[in-house]
Amino acid sequence: MEFVRHSLVFLHLLGMGALIGALLLQFRSPEEVNKGWLHGAGLQLVTGIALMVLAPLTGAEYNHMKLGIKLLVVLAVLGLAFAFTAKKTNPRWLPPTLGGLVVLNVGLAVFWT
Ligand code: HEM
Repeated sequence: MEFVRHSLVFLHLLGMGALIGALLLQFRSPEEVNKGWLHGAGLQLVTGIALMVLAPLTGAEYNHMKLGIKLLVVLAVLGLAFAFTAKKTNPRWLPPTLGGLVVLNVGLAVFWT
């Protein structure tokens, strides 16, 4: 079961990398919201929930308050990315907001034990 948890954490960290990649790509092509936000946030949502749900089997113990807040933050990223991908517009405040929310989740993951 440890291998399953490690594999999910591996994908979870790649998802974080994809979100940082989306932020950098956004500065290069600012016209539209790039799809990397949706892919990265989707991967974080799926792997994060899998880690949480499988915790009784993997033997991991997590802070549920922290995970609840991370869940809300990633849903905000997904909601904003979906809304503005559909509108095909990218207001100036959107990339720093999405990037800030991602960095917030990294901070919560690392500093809140
Ligand atoms: C933008 C979204 C997210 C980012 C950037 C992110 C980032 C991270 C990072 C960097 C870690 C590793 C922390 C460490 O090992 O010290 C981590 C671990 C974890 N994350 Fe996330 N996360 C996100 C969303 C979520 C969501 C939505 C959930 C579930 C509700 C979640 C659940 C977890 C769990 C359970 C771990 C611990 C894995 C383990 O070591 O067993 N994450 N996250």
